[in-house]
Amino acid sequence: MEVVICPSAAVVGELAAAKVARVCRDVGPSVVLGVATGSSPLSLYEHLAAAVAAGDLDLSAASAFALDEYVGLPPGHPESYASVIARTVTEPLRLDPSRVRLPDGNAADVPAACADYERAIAAAGGVDVQILGVGANGHIGFNEPGSSLSSRTRIKTLAERTRADNARFFDSPEQVPTHCLTQGLGTIMAAREVVLVAQGASKADAIAAVVEGPVTASCPGSVLQFHEKATVIVDEQAAAKLR
Ligand code: F6R
Repeated sequence: MEVVICPSAAVVGELAAAKVARVCRDVGPSVVLGVATGSSPLSLYEHLAAAVAAGDLDLSAASAFALDEYVGLPPGHPESYASVIARTVTEPLRLDPSRVRLPDGNAADVPAACADYERAIAAAGGVDVQILGVGANGHIGFNEPGSSLSSRTRIKTLAERTRADNARFFDSPEQVPTHCLTQGLGTIMAAREVVLVAQGASKADAIAAVVEGPVTASCPGSVLQFHEKATVIVDEQAAAKLR
């Protein structure tokens, strides 16, 4: 695992975008991106979007797979991850919407929808570079503490801490869904390269546990210590508890 400590949150986004852009150029037009929602990767996406707008990067033939989706939000809900990915990733990066996929949080048959999602990732040839944030409790995707290290896409109950952290996106905390579909830790580990970004003091405990703690289901992100090409890019505040 490579750890890069940046002087500011702004530099985190810039360096992470450069790394992702390098993979896109190396792999070529049909690159497969793994994309996260949440605040952490927004600056990364803005830098990638700037490169696309400047004509330095062309993602029009790329595919993208989101990490997760809430269960039960009505289609078109502004905080569904389908809407968030459309707003923050598909449109600014000029991806082809037909090649951007998320797990179906409204599927009648959840296990079948999860199996379909795994099959779609495999059919695309697997993820070339997976972009990740990390929860304050060490989750990646919505693999909350206790998640199996080899898990695949499935339904999960959101931890109360995660629901509280994500309440900022909803009118009231009760509106945050209780369940989600998420790629598993095994799914994430199958990506050929992983770039995790974190900024701010609220992530310092999680980053210390992910990078230097024991590899344990109690801190799902710690499984990345076993990934051959994982880069963790953080600002000084998020790095504050590293030894
Ligand atoms: C989002 C996701 C989550 C977030 C994490 C951090 O698709 O899978 O793991 O990356 O909850 O969220 P932010 O970046 O909002 O602090």
